[in-house]
Amino acid sequence: MKTNTNSPVTNPIVRRNFLAAAGAFTAAGLDPLGPEAAAALELSDSKLENLHAQTTWEQLRGQFLLPRDQVYMNNGSLGPSPSYVLQQTHQAWRELEQDPVGLAFGPLLSRAEKVRGKAADFLGCSSEEISVTRNTTEAMNTIAQGIQLQKGDRVLTTDHEHPGGVVCWEYYAKRRGVVIDRVSLPGPPQSAEQLVALIEEKLRKDTAVVSISEVTSTTGLRLPVSQIAEVVRANGSLLVVDGAQAPGALQVDVKQLDCDAYATSAHKWMLAPKGSGLLYIHQDARQRIDPLLLQHGSQVYTASTGTRDIPGIIGLAAAIEFLNRVGKERIERRVRQLRQQLYSGLQKLPRGKVASPPDGPLSSALVSFSLPSGVSCSSLAGTLRSRHKIIVKPVAANGLNAIRLSVHIYNSEEETEKLLAALKQELA
Ligand SMILES: Cc1ncc(COP(=O)(O)O)c(C=O)c1O
Repeated sequence: MKTNTNSPVTNPIVRRNFLAAAGAFTAAGLDPLGPEAAAALELSDSKLENLHAQTTWEQLRGQFLLPRDQVYMNNGSLGPSPSYVLQQTHQAWRELEQDPVGLAFGPLLSRAEKVRGKAADFLGCSSEEISVTRNTTEAMNTIAQGIQLQKGDRVLTTDHEHPGGVVCWEYYAKRRGVVIDRVSLPGPPQSAEQLVALIEEKLRKDTAVVSISEVTSTTGLRLPVSQIAEVVRANGSLLVVDGAQAPGALQVDVKQLDCDAYATSAHKWMLAPKGSGLLYIHQDARQRIDPLLLQHGSQVYTASTGTRDIPGIIGLAAAIEFLNRVGKERIERRVRQLRQQLYSGLQKLPRGKVASPPDGPLSSALVSFSLPSGVSCSSLAGTLRSRHKIIVKPVAANGLNAIRLSVHIYNSEEETEKLLAALKQELA
């Protein structure tokens, strides 16, 4: 095995500094380096080249600092970064602090700038069509403020959007008299065709924008975006997609989706540092989407974007490298396998009802389970956390009263069984 001179484990100087920094954390009562974390860093020290299609899920689990006795099933809210990403981010940060101007406006900025190319490959577009943002909400606002909507223009969306994908349109409705129309999504729908027809029915001549989630945050329904794009294009409207819940778990190609703009949060399924996201705007849509933030181009640093979180952006590149290394297709297969196990186990529970679509093109990595009357989603989520060390998301929106379970590559069959057993016990 080659020696990694930048590693805190093998390079004595870096290791000393690293441990000193960790010691300061410990003294402050934060203790980031428990034995699990240290083990994870050891594993990441075995370098990205050592991760490959044969690396087992159990080995990959060692990359995550999540405590072993805790089951984390809320990746849909925030994903944990693997230690490879942590190391790359820390390292960039440590370099930066040695000469902030020289590095942030020099070599580190050049590295951060290259991240757009990696991100563009990851989403299937050109680097001129992608910019690095802080999250989906920011990207959706950037899109919306770049479309000069006028009083009376209409935006068509669904009744299952996350606030981060819809506040940008609500602002227009409040301040400029734009009208928002909403398709009511059936739960679960019968087919992709049913969903396309529901959108088509609500399209009007003055529908300027159709704004939908690729995967809804409530039930994990994956909308048939490319089929929806056909009817939206025929109507001459712009198609904007909130992709917060897809890339990283599901393979996404924005060109195949055929949307005009796509926003995502890299800190969810892409396992990137918190506060990192991506924005895609199709080159042909630039005339119609002209965002203020990108007026000087989509580079990481411009007059209009200002100084950025360079280590976080470099960490985003590391996350993409990590996912590519493990394999996007392999990840999706694994996530779908765990999700299927969850889905069928939930269906067998005597009380409650699965609110998400069955396995297939309309499903994703999220499964929501509606609770029987008398059981509140937030109190059950609290009990799962305190009594069983299982972390899930309560979903009260749309009258669901559900718990949402999200699974990623660090989860296992055993964890899924543990969750199912805990639910059986709590709902008995
Ligand atoms: C569909 C959807 N859109 C937007 C967001 C907001 O994400 P962020 O806080 O990263 O902007 C979320 C967060 O869960 C989401 O699920």
